[in-house]
Amino acid sequence: MNKWLYNEFKHCGVDYSKAGQADVYDEQHQKFRNYENEFKGMTDFLGLHDMGNKTIIDLGCGTGAIAIFAADFFKTVYAVDVSDVMIEKAKKKLNKNVHNLRFVNAGFLSYNHDGEPADLVVTKAAYHHLPDFWKQIALLRMNRMLKMGGLLYIHDIVFQFDPQEYESRINAWISRFEEVAGEEFRLEVETHIRDEYSTFGWILKGMLEKAGFAVEKCRSVDGFITEYACRKVSELSYKETP
Ligand SMILES: C[S@@+](CC[C@H](N)C(=O)[O-])C[C@H]1O[C@@H](n2cnc3c(N)ncnc32)[C@H](O)[C@@H]1O
Repeated sequence: MNKWLYNEFKHCGVDYSKAGQADVYDEQHQKFRNYENEFKGMTDFLGLHDMGNKTIIDLGCGTGAIAIFAADFFKTVYAVDVSDVMIEKAKKKLNKNVHNLRFVNAGFLSYNHDGEPADLVVTKAAYHHLPDFWKQIALLRMNRMLKMGGLLYIHDIVFQFDPQEYESRINAWISRFEEVAGEEFRLEVETHIRDEYSTFGWILKGMLEKAGFAVEKCRSVDGFITEYACRKVSELSYKETP
């Protein structure tokens, strides 16, 4: 293995490898999220029907916000995360009869997909944990996980505003979050901006194209939280040393 490879198991910003963080995750996020509605919103946004013969990979699955609902609709679900304690939380929420959901303790840069190429790769609120260079490498790897014509869904904080407005836009956004989710979550959003690696929309669009994706849809309600529907339009020729 190359010694210069980014260590994605060393968390930046919020440390999801800590049991305490995993313990409070769902309770905190349910102040402003409804996982089931989010899953439905995602499949509507992607125009997905007949998922019963499709395979999905969820990268940065956390406590299973997407993966657990996906298991009710997709043929096979691979749920991947660098945090074993987040995966343990997800497993505890599972109905015992679920046989089509496989958890893997790995990440964007280390997960080796050994199943059939996927129809859909999704990542929600996780991709910003990689710095931009490694985001690009992760996209190359996501391309390789997918069938030709398959879809990549990214849901993350991506800056969609003019860089010159950064201060007022970020302060206003953090204040809005505090109103909805309280003081504790304001601290988490500040950590996100300071210590994690969200990037600008125009940078991400270029990276997606370089990785063989066409952006079919992009939606952001607040200039921060953004959804992308991207289609794999080319096979890549690069090789990775095992
Ligand atoms: C904010 S949580 C999002 C979890 C889930 N997707 C959701 O929507 O609730 C971020 C997750 O990304 C994971 N993560 C961080 N860096 C990662 C990486 N390089 N590869 C895969 N997962 C990563 C963390 O362990 C954490 O579970």
